[in-house]
Amino acid sequence: MSSVSVVRKTAILAAVSALCVARPARAWSPAVNYALNCQGCHLADGSATPDLVPPLQGSVGRLVHVPEGRAYLVRLPNVASTTLSDAETAELLNWVVERFGAGERPREFAPFTAAEVALRAFRRVSLAPGARETVALEVPIAELAFYDEAASAWRVDELAYTVHVGTSSRDLPLSATLEVRARQ
Ligand code: HEC
Repeated sequence: MSSVSVVRKTAILAAVSALCVARPARAWSPAVNYALNCQGCHLADGSATPDLVPPLQGSVGRLVHVPEGRAYLVRLPNVASTTLSDAETAELLNWVVERFGAGERPREFAPFTAAEVALRAFRRVSLAPGARETVALEVPIAELAFYDEAASAWRVDELAYTVHVGTSSRDLPLSATLEVRARQ
């Protein structure tokens, strides 16, 4: 486990990937949300664009076999940054798994839930002018893992990770560095 402490004298939104978005006025079905949010890159049939976008068939169904794969899907930048609510994002991911991974997903696939897709390292604090508060955000080490295709394994690189903090993803005045070291 790693944690980051931040002290700020005004109200802040602190997040590893901060999102500040307007909610759509009405809810759409997952199929429509796919068309609006994903299809521009993944095409209607989830097929690949060589050198740019991987295919969804043969991928999503396999990724949901392991917790790291589920976590990877949730934090894909284009999934995490939609204007959809957590519940709608969970519903969309379940739709994507059924639509493109039905043949490969585990038979007892547990659907994504709103809680699972919620931002992890996120806390909103309201402070009076001049007041201070320490905000501790925990980032489980598994959330830094990525899939190393050459080694066919999940890996966490021993690197220095920069964590940005601010009022939204476009206003990130604070940053800190986390170092990840191998267990002895
Ligand atoms: C701007 C283009 C773009 C949009 C929009 C987009 N994606 Fe992606 N997606 C990518 C790229 C590129 C990758 C490859 C991994 C990466 O670079 O993040 C990817 C990877 C993925 C993967 C993992 C596939 C693999 O084998 O690693 C899934 C699943 C996925 N996207 C689902 C979605 C969903 C669901 C949406 C809509 C909410 C969406 N994407 C929107 C470009 C996009």
